[in-house]
Amino acid sequence: MSYSFKITKTDQSSLSKVDFNNIPFGKTFSDHMFVADYIHGEWTNFEIRPVAPIPTHPGNMAWHYGQSIFEGMKATKDAEGHALLFRPEMHAKRINASARRMCMPEIPEDLFLQAIHTLVDMEKAWIPPQTGSALYIRPFMYATDETIGVKASDTYKFIIFVMPVGPYYSQPVKLLAQDTYVRAVVGGVGEAKASGNYAASLLPATMARKEGYDQVMWLDGVHKKYIQEVGTMNIFLLSEMK
Ligand SMILES: Cc1ncc(COP(=O)(O)O)c(C=O)c1O
Repeated sequence: MSYSFKITKTDQSSLSKVDFNNIPFGKTFSDHMFVADYIHGEWTNFEIRPVAPIPTHPGNMAWHYGQSIFEGMKATKDAEGHALLFRPEMHAKRINASARRMCMPEIPEDLFLQAIHTLVDMEKAWIPPQTGSALYIRPFMYATDETIGVKASDTYKFIIFVMPVGPYYSQPVKLLAQDTYVRAVVGGVGEAKASGNYAASLLPATMARKEGYDQVMWLDGVHKKYIQEVGTMNIFLLSEMK
């Protein structure tokens, strides 16, 4: 199915202020974002508009009870300048798996994909051409009911913004195996890409940095001896067959 988006373009692009050869990670936002609301049991108000703050009530449930999930992927350019995405449909599936675990509404996969394709197409000029750089795409969803009391929110916002980024690390990464704190346990929320999981990782990451490491290598939550994953990235092990 095809959705109809209201599109409002900025008349003050900040693209010319960006130096693509020197982009600090995660600080430069493009001009536009996609926004949708979940109200009365359905997704509505599809809009692409200039990136700007969204006023939020202090009783917003996402802040108090943590219904907040996100995705992350990258767009690059091919030799002819077309935008390239890597398996965005898998990110649609993963955000919906996170939504199910966090008692949040799923996003129709075709809406998720149309929103990403339309936004990336509009922001194509923001894709850095440099090797190792990319346009980082951040879809996320959070609760918006203004209610205190532990329950699932009835309303949500789904937003996508994009940002040009350079490499996350410019040097090989030093890892510290963490055997006190755990990131995920069977039956927990580790499998969901829930914002709170990242808050919980900050203390061990800070401790690792104090000891001269870049990142935590998480171990399994039961035996604390099997490698699980690394904080900001996947880990692949090569074994030489003799
Ligand atoms: C900027 C950035 N890159 C990579 C990752 C890891 O993402 P993934 O869950 O796809 O491994 C994260 C984690 O959220 C992140 O914030």
